[in-house]
Amino acid sequence: MVIDSKKLKKMFLDFFSENQHKLILNYPLIPEYDPTVLFTPAGMHPLIPYFLGQPHPLGKKLVNVQKCFRTGDIECVGDSSHLTFFEMLGSWSLGDYFKRQAIRLSYDFLTNKRWLNLDEKRLSVTVFAGDQDAPRDTESYEAWSVLGVPDDHIFFLSKEENWWGPVGNIGPCGPCTEMFYDTGKPPCSPSCRPGCLCGKYFELWNDVFMEYNKTSSGGYELLKQKNVDTGMGVEHTAAMLEGKETVFEIAAIRPIAKRVEEIASISVPTSVQEKSIRIIIDHIRASTFILGDERGVKPSNVDRGYVLRRLIRRAIRFGRLIGIERDFLTDLADIVITLNESEYPLLREKEANIFDELSKEETKFKNTLEKGLRKFQRIAEKSPKIDGKNAFLLFQSFGFPFELTKELAEEIGVEVDEVGFRNQYERHRKVSAESAKKLFKGGLSDASKETIRLHTATHLLNEALRRILKKKDIVQKGSNITPERLRFDFNFDRPLESNEIVEIEEWVNEKIKQELPVIRKEMTVEEAKAFGAQAVFNNKYGGDAISVYTIGDFSKEACGGPHVSNTIELGTFKIKKEKGIASGVRRIRAVLRKKPEKTKDR
Ligand code: SER
Repeated sequence: MVIDSKKLKKMFLDFFSENQHKLILNYPLIPEYDPTVLFTPAGMHPLIPYFLGQPHPLGKKLVNVQKCFRTGDIECVGDSSHLTFFEMLGSWSLGDYFKRQAIRLSYDFLTNKRWLNLDEKRLSVTVFAGDQDAPRDTESYEAWSVLGVPDDHIFFLSKEENWWGPVGNIGPCGPCTEMFYDTGKPPCSPSCRPGCLCGKYFELWNDVFMEYNKTSSGGYELLKQKNVDTGMGVEHTAAMLEGKETVFEIAAIRPIAKRVEEIASISVPTSVQEKSIRIIIDHIRASTFILGDERGVKPSNVDRGYVLRRLIRRAIRFGRLIGIERDFLTDLADIVITLNESEYPLLREKEANIFDELSKEETKFKNTLEKGLRKFQRIAEKSPKIDGKNAFLLFQSFGFPFELTKELAEEIGVEVDEVGFRNQYERHRKVSAESAKKLFKGGLSDASKETIRLHTATHLLNEALRRILKKKDIVQKGSNITPERLRFDFNFDRPLESNEIVEIEEWVNEKIKQELPVIRKEMTVEEAKAFGAQAVFNNKYGGDAISVYTIGDFSKEACGGPHVSNTIELGTFKIKKEKGIASGVRRIRAVLRKKPEKTKDR
């Protein structure tokens, strides 16, 4: 019996349920409080507060399948294995069992006849070799040995290959042990070993032992508890189980490839065409899931919208390269939805919106793509380096995301002045430095103490708005927190008066000074509703229980945390900006200062 990706997911969840792990939700691709990334990059990301010690409402042993997106991989797509959007199977121990049990469970799932039933002789593993930050992982080595993995199948590797995390610059991380399956191909060289990209070793699973916290000074300290975070890429493992050489051939993806080939009238793709087809498949899957996410995004020139725009436009350009002239994205999105709707019914519910956004973007870009390409050629012929002004012209007038210009330039060996482009962008768009940084870097910041303080301040602000503006139905429409500031969007239909802003600040600062404890309670969704907690009750957790944070007797919000334990830790709250961002939606930016201020300086 062939195990395809659907079967693999079911087996993984069943295996860990049998081993007393509780199923948690497949979280949205767009993280709720967004302290670190634009998109959920790994199954562990929504669990960061729980690695740090906060109790999870469903206990210490968890499992799920998580949709993930990695912006940093956009340009790697095209080979046999890279995907920007993928599903990850994950299992966790939050301060419960550690290395030995995690390794035992992994070995059992991989080799036991009831589960994947892989040949243990073809299994190789890697373990952390040790360095100045953390010792050699002899415990993992011994755990594999006891299970019968011979020494010549255990490889000690350095931090570069055998350490995972943190997400962003700081946070939970640790050494890992990775499992590989030998495809039986001959080694590419005498140094060929697990981790080599020649295709001999198929990477199956990564068990991370999250016992460290990387701090802002760059050092590593021990976390309060030892956690296990395991991740198995669904498409990747399915390819191996289905006997395919690439992820693009698995049952869950192949129909998209077939349709692309039909549209482009290609029967046997050349390797160059194959690369374009893979890029189109990946980008249309990712765009469909981003548009159809619980917290869907639209194409735009900033943040997530910019990443989405890049994906869609890149798919269109690679479509052109294989001769596709007609609109084709909604056709492909429909197949993506069909393939996934049994597990992601929201995709079908949001189908009209997904199709609409894709066609709008396709129409917009197709109108300028040809002209833009001709313009690009003229510019590139004249000079060996495309300056910032011209790169900006391509961006502004022809809708070329900067990375597209860079890619086109690389293809013909021409350079592009990135700093010059950035300067032009900032000048023309008058965007903040932070926004520009996000545009280029994919939006990384930190899950730091500052971010946590601002998160608690966000709860206070949320409540202050309802009270000072005397409007009970004000709710959070969006939130984004970096270590420097909070950003909070809410429904309100006029600009705030300056006295209202002062009153909101005073109300929040008064609550801070009252030294109120921030208390986390676990309750069912029904109890949380009856308790009057603010939240979007969208079955955030797989089970019933959710966390509700209360501050004093006035702020009650269902939330994953983390938060400070007492409001006095916040310092002084200050609103820096208030503006409208859409009809009926206002945005506040605010900061916290360590000490009470003497002067008013807004
Ligand atoms: N966080 C690890 C990974 O993404 C294991 O889940 O590989």
